[in-house]
Amino acid sequence: MKAAIFREHGPIENLEYTDVSAPTPGPNEVLVRVRAIALNHLDLFVREGMPGLKLELPHIGGCDIAGEIEAVGVAVEGWREGERVVINPSLSCGMCEFCIMGEESLCPRYQIIGEHVRGGAAEYIAVPSANLFRIPDDYPFEQAAAVPLVFMTAWRSLISQGQLRAGQSALILGAGGGVASAAIQIARFAGAKVYAASREESKRRQALDLGAHEVLDSNKDFSKELWKLTNKRGVDVVLENVGAATWDRALRSVVKGGRVVVYGATSGPIVQLDLRQIFWKQYAIIGATMANRREFNTVMRLVFWERQLQPVVDRVLPLSEIREAHHALERGEQFGKIVLTP
Ligand SMILES: NC(=O)c1ccc[n+]([C@@H]2O[C@H](COP(=O)([O-])OP(=O)(O)OC[C@H]3O[C@@H](n4cnc5c(N)ncnc54)[C@H](OP(=O)(O)O)[C@@H]3O)[C@@H](O)[C@H]2O)c1
Ligand SMILES: [Zn+2]
Repeated sequence: MKAAIFREHGPIENLEYTDVSAPTPGPNEVLVRVRAIALNHLDLFVREGMPGLKLELPHIGGCDIAGEIEAVGVAVEGWREGERVVINPSLSCGMCEFCIMGEESLCPRYQIIGEHVRGGAAEYIAVPSANLFRIPDDYPFEQAAAVPLVFMTAWRSLISQGQLRAGQSALILGAGGGVASAAIQIARFAGAKVYAASREESKRRQALDLGAHEVLDSNKDFSKELWKLTNKRGVDVVLENVGAATWDRALRSVVKGGRVVVYGATSGPIVQLDLRQIFWKQYAIIGATMANRREFNTVMRLVFWERQLQPVVDRVLPLSEIREAHHALERGEQFGKIVLTP
């Protein structure tokens, strides 16, 4: 089968579009014919290499997958060939105290398809049948692939970890990002007042179209602007993912007693913290990673079956243009998701 692989961690030039052998599904797995994948910033980090990430090389990236079932493992029940699905990228042990509590993304053996194991940037992938989520017949694969990772992360970050509720307010940083494009919609859906910050004017306009009430320029001190817009209050929840470049301003944007939810650190992971600010303003700094099954199913149902939330696809390219896709994401050209079709 054709696949986008890298044999060594490193720059974009390490990506190759080439032939590899197709996987065979195990007894509890299904073979999925991949129709579309969406890129995540994670794909860039995995290609570059991360501390502690030891992969079997060559690696195939791609955490967000939509396709059709091609073959079903002997022990699989409830699924048949031809069904249209997206794939939950979470893998966990199923036996530890966290898995038993239904908190799969806290599992010590938690892994992500496309990060720790081979992903979907190929014509086929074999995945556990427990990871499948059925999608409607008329839902385009290019749109469907743009959903799983970003909507599950945004849902857990805002609703579960951030406890965002109707009548509250949220600031979404890096508005052009994939997770941010889901978060703007989810915050609005939850009944919050939504502020979104981006470096680019065109993306700020797109954020307004997507449901943000107010937009801020992240090249400037957006915390001052926010201070004015909120009558010197700040927001209940700040969704931080840009990292070092926005951290200080993010902390200045939260209301006393509010929550700063951190799910990423795109511009750098090391920041400063003035402990006096924490005890005086009494805000919480809360981490979020991916989602548990319940959160995944809740938000997938809202997207695919209730159609209350929509994926934002910036562009669709053939998988053979994987290098161009990585370049575009690295330069931050996109608003929403870059999708590839094998
Ligand atoms: N914990 C988890 O489970 C989880 C899940 C998904 C993603 N993440 C992490 O969350 C981050 C976002 O992921 P994504 O896939 O949504 O990324 P993405 O689509 O590449 O978006 C990142 C956005 O961050 C903003 N940005 C980047 N560098 C910036 C800088 N120096 N200054 C200001 N803004 C900057 C840009 O927004 P503007 O151009 O609009 O300013 C950019 O579009 C990544 O670090 C990713 O690894 C974590
Ligand atoms: Zn576990």
